[in-house]
Amino acid sequence: MVVVPMAFSMRYLDLKRKIRDVRMLAIQGIAKAGSGHPGASFSAAEIMGALYFRKMKHDPSNPNWEDRDYFVNSKAHSAPGFYATLAVAGYFPEDEIKDLRKLGSRLQGHPVRHSEQQKHHSVPGVEYSGGSEGIGLSVSIGIALGNKLDNKENHIYTLIGDGESNEGQIWEAAMAAPKFRLDNLVAILDRNRIQQDGFTEDIMPLDPMRDKWSAFNWNVIEINGHKVEQIIDALNKANLVQDKPTIIIANTIKGNGIKHMANVPQWHGKAPPNKHTPLLLEELESECLIAPSIIAGTRENYEEKVRAAERGDADIIHLDVMDGKFVPNITFFAETIKKLRHITSLPFDAHLMIENPLEHIEEYIDARCDIITVHAEACDEFEFAQINQKLLSNGISPGIAINPSTELPKWVYSHLNDIDVVIIMSVDPGFAGQKFVPQILPKMVLTTRKLRESGFNGYIEADGGIDATTLQQVYDIGARILVAGNAVYGSTDIHAAIIQLKHKANVALEKRLLEHATTLGIRSDWMKTRKHILIPLANELDIEEEFHAIK
Ligand code: DX5
Ligand code: ZN
Repeated sequence: MVVVPMAFSMRYLDLKRKIRDVRMLAIQGIAKAGSGHPGASFSAAEIMGALYFRKMKHDPSNPNWEDRDYFVNSKAHSAPGFYATLAVAGYFPEDEIKDLRKLGSRLQGHPVRHSEQQKHHSVPGVEYSGGSEGIGLSVSIGIALGNKLDNKENHIYTLIGDGESNEGQIWEAAMAAPKFRLDNLVAILDRNRIQQDGFTEDIMPLDPMRDKWSAFNWNVIEINGHKVEQIIDALNKANLVQDKPTIIIANTIKGNGIKHMANVPQWHGKAPPNKHTPLLLEELESECLIAPSIIAGTRENYEEKVRAAERGDADIIHLDVMDGKFVPNITFFAETIKKLRHITSLPFDAHLMIENPLEHIEEYIDARCDIITVHAEACDEFEFAQINQKLLSNGISPGIAINPSTELPKWVYSHLNDIDVVIIMSVDPGFAGQKFVPQILPKMVLTTRKLRESGFNGYIEADGGIDATTLQQVYDIGARILVAGNAVYGSTDIHAAIIQLKHKANVALEKRLLEHATTLGIRSDWMKTRKHILIPLANELDIEEEFHAIK
């Protein structure tokens, strides 16, 4: 049995936070260097994050550990994102990113394979010196074959690009790997549909990509490459396949995370001006997650509601567990959640409105929730600490919730490092469809500020009466997980309802960025850069006239 030196069974919200940190680090490096590839660094961020922070057996303190899994980054121009991932994983100090592409720095435009001899010019954790595209998959076949011959139980993960798939060598390698039955090889295609000078389908049509790889006898899995839960699910499935290699076609968006870069070819290899960095960092910190609450609307058919939320592009499923004692209502318990678990890989956010949560916590751990939140009113510090330990040791994100009339207990502040989410209820718990209680806003402001000042790095979750009219208030305070019951399941078109909530969050973000740009004295410059994002919102942002003046 191979023991993994560093437990990387990262919790869902921690994983999200780390990947956010990777994007923030990469963009700071690129902006400071004045060159680099934000597009690919961002389209592959979740892929590299899921591998380094959750899936791979590796040890940053021992990069040459012989039983490690290998990651071969064949689309090496994604170097800034790759370096940032290695740094956040602990291979070298994060602030070294400021030396990106500097003369004498080991963080050059394309990574150099780690070697003790070239200590100052190579990067710990880098298995392959990339740059010229199309070669990494062939190198991976050599590594996979060698490890098979040595009866190793490890895996080789290879990131390739779709522009790179214009290279003939990719297809030579695609032919070779099944011949050698390399089931220890998993290729991940960063299918962002853009290459250096335009859209792949305009330059060299690649579709149907799926059929091509299966015709070459690969096991093929296709996913949304920005959903970490789908990436992890696909990697786990790939590891179970016998006698053939797997390719995961990860549909991604080039530049994902920065709206004016997303899906825009010019950001393939262009750096943003350094003066924009504070705005880009604010945007990256502002990603919000929509979590439909399935008890809302009619009570029947939770399964269909979960499926509809997934089809509607929800980020998380909010599961309100009510025992009829802590709140005057009964919904469902762990057994129901267990049944729903098989329907989707979407993260499950269990909101336990029950008495004695410590007594029941194992049931919800077994039900494979990703986030479990208990109420501060239902447990004392001692019980909460025990609950937390159980959740943390099972890779589950712990949360604590407070009712509208409750202040966050003082003892919570000594557990902040072990808490991933704080729910500040904006209705008295017990039912969906209640009206938002605006009186909680001042408390929400103070509690959020006090948490941040105390070093809390987790998520603020708003729950109760959140809809298109109330969302901006909680968003502006800092809520980044937004529960929506009636606003989603009270509507006939669930997808449209979720999109509308995301739109409202987007408008709130653009408003904040414009205010920030103004304080930085770069408002019109920012508006020019952000033009194609702001024009459709000009009316809601009340900037139509200003735009006319800028155009
Ligand atoms: C209330 C629950 C909420 C509720 C949300 O006790 O915790 O999650 O279901 O539903 P809406 O958004 O309709 O208030
Ligand atoms: Zn809830």
